[in-house]
Order: sequence, then C-alpha cells, then structure tokens
Amino acid sequence: MKHFLSTEDWSQDDLKSLLTLAAQLKQHPTGDTLQGKSVALLFFNNSLRTRTSFELGTHQLGGKAVVLTPGKDAWPLAFNFGEVMDGEAEEHVAEAARVLSRYCDLIAVRCFPKFEDWQVDREDLVINSFAEHATVPVINMETIVHPCQELALAMTMQEHFGNVQDRKFVLTWTYHPKPLNTAVANSALLIATKLGMKVTLLCPNEEYLLDNRFMEAAQDYSAAHGNTLTVSHDIESAYKDAEMVYAKSWGALPYFGRWDDEKPMRDKLKHFIVDEEKMALTNNARFSHCLPLRRNIKATDAVMDADYCVAIDEAENRLHVQKALMTKLVNQ
Ligand code: CP
Repeated sequence: MKHFLSTEDWSQDDLKSLLTLAAQLKQHPTGDTLQGKSVALLFFNNSLRTRTSFELGTHQLGGKAVVLTPGKDAWPLAFNFGEVMDGEAEEHVAEAARVLSRYCDLIAVRCFPKFEDWQVDREDLVINSFAEHATVPVINMETIVHPCQELALAMTMQEHFGNVQDRKFVLTWTYHPKPLNTAVANSALLIATKLGMKVTLLCPNEEYLLDNRFMEAAQDYSAAHGNTLTVSHDIESAYKDAEMVYAKSWGALPYFGRWDDEKPMRDKLKHFIVDEEKMALTNNARFSHCLPLRRNIKATDAVMDADYCVAIDEAENRLHVQKALMTKLVNQ
C-alpha cells in the first residue's frame, strides 16, 4: 500500500502520470472513481484551499469527506509510545488511525511543525504515526513538506510552459513578519529539481538555507536529471533570465524556537519583496505563490494582479491534482 507523504517516495514517472490524470479531470470534473468511498481529513491547523479542494474534490468524484479537527471537534491525540497519557490527549494515534481506517478509504493529515525544536519537528511524528498505524493510504496535506502543493505547481507550470525541463526556476525567500513553515519551500525545491528545471534558491544568507535532507535530495534530483541547483544571495543575478519565480517566506532554521533572536535579522530583509522591478529582470517569467499571501509584504499588488501571476491557477489546480491522487490511491 502506497501513501503520499512526500514526493521523495514517488518517481518522476509516477508524478507525471498523476498530472496526466489531473489534466483529464480538469476537462471532466465529475466522475465516480470515489463512489462509495470516504476520506477523513484531519486538520491540526487552519486552511482555506486545502480543506475546500479536498472536500469538494471528494464530492465531485462521488465520495464523502469527513473533516475532523483534533483537539476541537475530535479528541486531542497522543503520538509517543510509552507515554503516560495524563495530559490533554484522550486518545492515542494507534487507536485513532486504526479506527478511522475501518471507516474510511483514505486519511489525509495537516499538521505543521510546533516551531520549538527543529530536530523534533523534522521527524514529522504526527503524519508518520498515522502512516504507521493506518491500514489505508495516508495523504500529507502539509507538514514539513506540502506535496499536494507541489503537484499543483507542477501542473500549473506544465500548462504554461509545456515541458519544463531546463527552464530557469527561482525559489525566492521573502519577508514576512512571522517565521513561517519551510514546507512549501522544501517542496518547491524537490519538485522543480525532480522535473529537471534549472533551479536557483535565492535566500538572504546561509542561515536561510533549508534542511540538509531537502538540499541534498534536490541536488541529487538535479544531477539525475542533468541540471543544476544553485544557491544565491544576490537578488539581481538570481532573477536574471528566470522563467518561473516562486516566492515563499520561512524562518531561519538555526534560530528555530529562538524567534526573537531571528527578528532583528529578518526585519532588515523587507527588500526581498517580489516587485515589478525584480520581475523586469526576468525572461518574461511567470510568478506564483502557494497562498495565502500578504500583499505588499511578500509581493506587491502590481505583481499579484499582473497577467504573469499564476497563483490563482495553481490554487485551482490543487482541486484537480488531489482528485487524481485520491483516485490513484484508492485504486492501487
Ligand atoms: N496553499 C494552501 O495549502 O492553502 P491553505 O493553507 O489555505 O490550505
């Protein structure tokens, strides 16, 4: 049984096959591939796009989605074995995952890092526990990676470019007043390199490099697909000749859990905002972001409203790729 925890576990061919099915579903949105099937959607964190697209996507294919928010409308959960459960948690994932597996054909989980200790968060305990104990496929709806967003980004780039091999992809860090999850940045790096793009990671300094697991995987994918991954701290040269600009803010990993210490450095980096002047350096690049996005903080109004901004296409494509994914997973 195959889960969808990270695209690292899926080959380029497998991912391309999902994208082909997603394109078909975009043309023919309703069907019966999830007829009689049910999906548990567990949200430990907020969502607009993920919840809506999974719920409606399941419905459009004849299935039923059940949304649960553990700790709010479902019991708070424990994940560590051997733990004496004398705190908030009323139930252990060992039971919750197996019970949901008796009711549902798929379990999807969103659980962001706790932002206290990266060495703990990088183990991705919650989703890995669900995958270990569930007897049905588990889908990652964003933890330390966001693989569904990767599929939507890949589909969007294919729609605009056709074959994306060798296109210059720039993943740029942007300012945000709060330290954010690295998940989408990790994921953007994974998918762009796996698709054989010429990738530049633009970040303010070495402290904003991503976890080695993802830097190394991306280097390996670049090498395997005959391309390069470059790290740059220079805005002008990074944007030059870009064909795709993808923006994301994230917290500097060496400061994880010590965010007040990161803030003075972060507050000097507002000039990383994506604006028309930077986009003018590119080779008529498309711009995108996973959303939500704070306008005039991460990207200007002019960029968000430009014809080259494809963020809304990417958000729409979440629906199509997730329908393809659910169809594949229940029929494996
Ligand atoms: N991009 C994304 O996952 O959006 P939500 O957080 O609104 O689900």
